[in-house]
Amino acid sequence: MTPVADKEKLTPPKAGALDVLKVTDSRTGKEYELAIENGTVRATDFKRIRAGADDVGLMVYDPAFLNTAACKSAITYLDGEKGILRYRGYPIEELAEHCRYLEVAYLLLHGELPNLPEHEEWTRQITYHTMLHESIKKFMDGFAYDAHPMGILVATVGALSTFYPDAREIHDPELRRLQIHRLVAKMPTLAAFAFRHSRGLPYAYPDNDLSYTENFLSMMFKMTEVKYRPNPVLAKALEVLFILHADHEQNCSTSVMRAIGSAHADPFSSVAGACAALYGPLHGGANEAVLKMLAEIGSKDRVPAFLKEVKAGHGEKRLMGFGHRIYKNYDPRARIIKKIADEVFDATAKNPLLDVALELERIALQDEYFVERKLYPNVDFYSGIIYQAMGFPTSMFTVLFAIARTMGWMVQWEEMLHDPEQKIARPRQVYMGPAERRLFPLEQRKASSDQLTPCNWKPGQKTLGAA
Ligand code: ACO
Repeated sequence: MTPVADKEKLTPPKAGALDVLKVTDSRTGKEYELAIENGTVRATDFKRIRAGADDVGLMVYDPAFLNTAACKSAITYLDGEKGILRYRGYPIEELAEHCRYLEVAYLLLHGELPNLPEHEEWTRQITYHTMLHESIKKFMDGFAYDAHPMGILVATVGALSTFYPDAREIHDPELRRLQIHRLVAKMPTLAAFAFRHSRGLPYAYPDNDLSYTENFLSMMFKMTEVKYRPNPVLAKALEVLFILHADHEQNCSTSVMRAIGSAHADPFSSVAGACAALYGPLHGGANEAVLKMLAEIGSKDRVPAFLKEVKAGHGEKRLMGFGHRIYKNYDPRARIIKKIADEVFDATAKNPLLDVALELERIALQDEYFVERKLYPNVDFYSGIIYQAMGFPTSMFTVLFAIARTMGWMVQWEEMLHDPEQKIARPRQVYMGPAERRLFPLEQRKASSDQLTPCNWKPGQKTLGAA
């Protein structure tokens, strides 16, 4: 841009879009107008605000993307203040009540709910791809008996890319669709195989007569019977849980999926990365952490003492399954899960940890610490209690999340590839390390602890010389 005018317009507003943000740069006294579009200003507009000729321009500093929209998306709508979640415009409550997981998966992918013939064809496509290459079993066998199934999932889903080299053809719409079918179909099989490996059980192959969730239960729990007959209440509950986990806009693992995908990696490798992010206890790993926490508390009477410890920990010790970056109200998914818990417990034995969880929620929601910070139960608070009652070991909880979220990752990945504004993801940084310094030959150097490496250097400190 030519010399900065006294009053400069950046990204001139389009006809009809008249909202502007007016800013004054105190360094130069110049005023700027930045166009406001969809409640955002463009971070690149700030680049043109410079203090002088050799200034590279202003950047926006936003560690952990607390207030940065990285894409435009038409998939999931989330209002964290009001506790609203919608997929393609449909409220999550209605989808959970009236649809099955594969219907919702179709909705996410196609933007519309399927009619009967479309649903049949879609189900046929997914069912067709449930088998795994036999060599995947050898991969599974190589893991230690106590390997965490999420670790196995991360590795084996990434390994699938080597079986499907056509997955690299990410610009071919038909091949892209094929990989989406493969991934949605094979994730439950990989997950169930990982579980069976940990138990030393023979792998149970998919049963294509069963629905998506029934087949998963069959691959998990089938023993010597010729045909596994899943409990319909549990299969239905799993449908609901999968629907609730199917997408959640730009969360940590989805952002990873988009970031890896933006480098044009194949979708199997990108999903491996997304799974790795999900594995973390602050994200999808929280459901496992909640159960460990509830077991550690043990009984209702110990809840107040536990909450006291959390509050004294000042963030070091957290109430797992509570709090959310976006929801500053009750997570609508947690409300739905709480409702289906009773149906599940009627079909199984009641999980004794439910009482501890209810008491924890009751006290926390009245406690000033949690009220002030708007910390409410999130999706992970009650999901684990149900999964445990259904017979899943805690180490499988995040795996269940990954199966359901695969659809969301795929749809977000495709949307990113179609978006003409997207490029390879590459954030900027504010460099805080040493300025250029002199390098001394090995024999003349001080002990590294006395040198100013980026690890022991403090902002403002001068660089050190030789010994
Ligand atoms: N228990 C106790 N205190 C908490 C909790 C919690 N679960 N969550 C946040 N806080 C406190 C923080 O200590 C901080 O307090 P401070 O202002 O006194 O420093 C304040 O609330 C804000 O917390 P942040 O960490 O800044 O919030 P952020 O949006 O970065 O974190 C997160 C969100 C990671 C979900 C957080 O609430 C958390 O760690 N929760 C527990 C883990 C969990 O349940 N994760 C699952 C999230 S849902 C999902 O990913 C599927």
